[in-house]
Amino acid sequence: MVNIKWEELGFNYIKTPFRYISHWKDGQWEEGTLTEDNTITISEGSTSLHYGQECFEGLKAYRRKDGKINLFRPDENSKRLNKSAERLQMPEIPEEMFIDAVKQVVRANQEYVPPYGTGATLYLRPYLIGVGDNIGVTPAPEYLFSVFCMPVGPYFKGGMTPSNFVVSEYDRAAPFGTGAAKAGGNYAASLLPGQIAHERNFSDCIYLDPATHTKIEEVGSANFFGITHDNQFITPKSPSILPSITKYSLLYLAKERFGMEAIEGDVYLKELDKFAEAGACGTAAVITPIAGMQIGEDFHVFYSETETGPVTKKLYDELVGIQFGDVKGPEGWVFEV
Ligand code: PLP
Ligand code: COI
Repeated sequence: MVNIKWEELGFNYIKTPFRYISHWKDGQWEEGTLTEDNTITISEGSTSLHYGQECFEGLKAYRRKDGKINLFRPDENSKRLNKSAERLQMPEIPEEMFIDAVKQVVRANQEYVPPYGTGATLYLRPYLIGVGDNIGVTPAPEYLFSVFCMPVGPYFKGGMTPSNFVVSEYDRAAPFGTGAAKAGGNYAASLLPGQIAHERNFSDCIYLDPATHTKIEEVGSANFFGITHDNQFITPKSPSILPSITKYSLLYLAKERFGMEAIEGDVYLKELDKFAEAGACGTAAVITPIAGMQIGEDFHVFYSETETGPVTKKLYDELVGIQFGDVKGPEGWVFEV
């Protein structure tokens, strides 16, 4: 048995025994293997190092009450990775190969899948990088695809405890840039605004639409949603935000399970009073209630600075219930490992 205090885990790197790795060359993926080596050796000319030709994913494995292990919508992560890869001129990874890699890594590291009831999960990080000898701004001659994993707790301290966010003066993505791709460069661009937010004791930044700076786009590491006073679930629609799998799952659950009007649309800063509750949602963040939002000199409080709103709680329970196998999910959402 591994000696980990599951309840005390945050979102930190832990070296687990096995990771999957596959190499692409001459138009094809080699048969992937599991390795115990958590380092990679790549050419100094790798495009991932110089030109950011890199994309990644994030998904989790959940220990069920009966001891079995669930994945949540890994097919959607596979599709999104391929969309990111297309935007960055990298080779496609067949869905069967992606899901097989994820399952192999979960099985090989299964004693690191946290026990049911601890609230912790196994976070999986697939990534795809351009490698090989190169110097011009051109797609790489070779690629590496790897999946590694580690047990994690809440991404934002306190998990379901409401926390404060600050609207950033920086943009994370351009209107027709790479915001919708899970590209490493978007996260590099978010490090400085993120650091400024943390120094001011905020959990993270909220970015505005880069063209007009009048609408909420997303959080640095999650999407945004709001619940209006008349029970609508609203989340921003924009070509420069990451299409969050959690967000689309919540849109579905809000509509189909709770009869709410579920809308992807504009979220204007000047209309925040229409929201009774707000939250950040994502694989790592799960659902984190937004207590207050600092906008310049103004501080806007949504439901409460200390309590989670009832609709946010209801959505959280349904989503997490499905992920851990306590609540029956819509057809095809849960994959058993
Ligand atoms: N937005 C950003 C910038 C993210 O990094 C993430 C995390 O993956 C999300 C949104 C949420 O996406 P998902 O729900 O697919 O994890
Ligand atoms: C995720 O939720 O999987 C993310 O990628 C967010 C963050 C850790 C970058």
